[in-house]
Order: sequence, then C-alpha cells, then structure tokens
Amino acid sequence: MSVSSDFSAVRADFPILGVDLDGRSPAYLDNAATTQKPRQVLDAIHDYYTTANSNVGRSVHTLSMRATERYESARGRVAEFLGAADKDEVVFTRGTTDSINMVAEGFGRQVVGSGDEVLISGMEHHSNLLPWRRLCERVGATLRVVPIDEHGELTPEAFTAQITERTKLIAVAHVSNVQGTVNPVREITAEAHRHGIPVVVDGAQAVAHRPVDVQELGADFYCFSSHKMYGPMGVGVLYGRAELLERMQPINVGGGIVRHVTYDGPNKYYKAPHLFESGTPNIADAVGLAAAIDYLEGIGREQVAAHDLALAERAAAGLRALDGVTVFGAQRPQGGIVSFGVEGLHPYDVGNHLNTYGIAVRTGVHCAVPFIDSLGLTIGTTRASFGVYNTAEEVDLLLEAVSTVEKGFWSNEHPNDRSLA
Ligand SMILES: Cc1ncc(COP(=O)(O)O)c(C=O)c1O
Repeated sequence: MSVSSDFSAVRADFPILGVDLDGRSPAYLDNAATTQKPRQVLDAIHDYYTTANSNVGRSVHTLSMRATERYESARGRVAEFLGAADKDEVVFTRGTTDSINMVAEGFGRQVVGSGDEVLISGMEHHSNLLPWRRLCERVGATLRVVPIDEHGELTPEAFTAQITERTKLIAVAHVSNVQGTVNPVREITAEAHRHGIPVVVDGAQAVAHRPVDVQELGADFYCFSSHKMYGPMGVGVLYGRAELLERMQPINVGGGIVRHVTYDGPNKYYKAPHLFESGTPNIADAVGLAAAIDYLEGIGREQVAAHDLALAERAAAGLRALDGVTVFGAQRPQGGIVSFGVEGLHPYDVGNHLNTYGIAVRTGVHCAVPFIDSLGLTIGTTRASFGVYNTAEEVDLLLEAVSTVEKGFWSNEHPNDRSLA
C-alpha cells in the first residue's frame, strides 16, 4: 500500500508542526500517546470562549442557553460518529481512563459479585486492567486474563475458551497501544452476548485510525479520549447502551444530576447521560472534540485508516530490513503503530538518538507492563505511531536515524528502568 499524497495539505492545518525545535522541525511520531491539534479544533475552542462561554443547563440567559446548545450538539455529533442509537448514550468524561473507571465502579459493581469472574485480554493498557483488578478485589471476584498467541494476537477462540458461567463482564482493547494489533471485537461481543455477558471496549487507539460503529461492533460500552484523535485534552467519552446506562450508578454526585434534593428523603435524579456528569462539565473541550470529529470526517475515516496503515507498513518493512532491529507483533501492521527494538540498546537510547533528528517516539513499557513482560520485553520497546499529518519522508527519516543509533547513557546506566510505567 502506498502513502497517498492527498494528505500533503493536512500538515498546514497543524500550527505546531512549524515550531522550531532548536533548528529542526518536529517529525511527530508519537500519536498513540497524544495527537496534535488542527487549527479547526483550536478555532472552535476559541470561538466557544469568545461567543458562547457560560455554564450549561443552569440559567435562562442567552449565553447559558448558547453554551447548553453547543454542548448538547457536541454530544449529538459524538453519537453520530460512533453510530450510537441515541445521543443520550454518550456521556462526556475526562478520557478513556475515567470512562473505564466509571463503568467498573458504577456498572461492574451491579453485575459482578463474590465468586464471579471478569475477563480481560493479555494485551491491556493499565487503564483497562487496574479498574477491573480493583473491582475484583473489592467484591471478591477473580480477574481472568485471556492469553495472546505466539504472534502477540488475540483470537476469538482464546476468549471463548475462558468464558464460564461465572463470567459476568468482559473488557478488551479494540486496538493494542503496544503493537497496533486490531482485536476481533465483533466476534468477542457475539460470543459474549450468547452468554448474556456485557462487553466493555477500550477504543483509545481505534477511533482516530479506523471507522468505528458501536452497534455494528456489538459494544455494550465503548471508551475513548479526545486527545488521541486530534481533539483537546481533558475530555473523553463513555458510550453505553441505554438499558445498561440505566443500571449504572454515578460515581460522583453533586450539582447537575438531580431535579430535587432533600436532607433525608429520596432525591429525584436525572437519567443518563446527565446523571453521570455531575458538576460543571468541560464544555469548551466537548465542543473542540466535535470539531475534531468534523475534521476527521472531512478527510474521510477510511482514507485516514489507509494512510496511517500505509505509513506503518513502510516503517515496519524498512525497520525489518535493518541489521539488529526487531519489529514486534504481526508480520504486517494492522493499525498505525509499529513497535520495535534495537539489539543491545535500551529504548531510551533509541528515543534520545531519534530526538536529535527531531523525531518524537514513545519509549518504554507503554503503560502495559504485564503485556510487555509476557512478550519477554522487560525494558520495553520503541514505538512509532502515525497520524494524518505524517509523511513517507518522515518514515524514511526514522529509518535513517534508527540505522545510526549507538549505545548510550541508558544502555550503560539504566538497563532496566521502568519508572515511566
Ligand atoms: C489502549 C489505551 N487505553 C487507555 C489509555 C488511557 O487513555 P487516557 O490516558 O487518555 O485516559 C491509553 C492511552 O495511551 C491507551 O492507549
């Protein structure tokens, strides 16, 4: 697959790509950590603050009604983006981690009890592992981990084999943040639903890189962060099927979620999604997220998926051809992520060296220590992850830089530093 030149105009939308890094310009290949923000998103946030800023759902004045209208229309935009049946199935959160914790504590506690089991895959980010582990510890349930195969992939059969009558919840990443593996979510949800088990999907690494339709996937809950899809920091989404959100309890209570309150009698709560958004929400960034969706859809989600994959394929093939370099994961990349190691070198040395070329990559254990350990890669990997503004030239620069890396500070002094887990 070749890298389309139609994307060349996209770079001009991202002011940060023109920044001077001590005489170099950034080759930003750390998109799985966070993406850069296009002018369209920055403008939407600026426009909100300069023409509509107020609090939502609180007052009758024009600015408050304007803010409410923009916030709720952002919700509607997210619902369309995800193929949700109703906009009230979209809860604004602080991000993927927040969304998963809300499900674990607010819904997990309703359905998982003593002696039950929660199933996760062996390639989860800590954010889709620790909330489930804590839930299990709190209610006396067992966390079971579905093993990955020798290629670091997850098969539907491996999931099916672990389902028992005690399994009450399944949580799985749509796309791995370490290797970019795309998991068979549709098959997993189909099997889970045959047993009446709800499935929580961590979509943090999926939404920016491929079309996602929650109904087609059969996801009962779907979680993602705006900042990984060209939107602002500090806002994210929890999609939940309406009948499951009805069973979910709010973790945070306070203003904005009740119609009527007493000191000791029953309170009258709003329903989802407002029940889960107590306090003043992050209105401006929800508006920014809607602008990011417009931006991605303006390019075309299929086109974005093909572009990111083509860059990853070019990188993986080029890296494999270099002496002493190992590319981890499937033989051909499945998403926009390539994780690799250079023989005898700590990933931090590789990252430091690439930084001298202006290349930004993520190095280390990628908040997935049990997965990294299961691959026998204790010091972690170097991860290049691609987005809409990346080019074939940047991939070639990466290859050139990797081919000249030498042992450095970390290889000698800190052979196994995991402090950034
Ligand atoms: C697969 C996956 N899940 C969850 C998260 C957590 O996302 P956030 O830090 O935005 O909450 C990340 C972030 O890297 C991720 O890659």
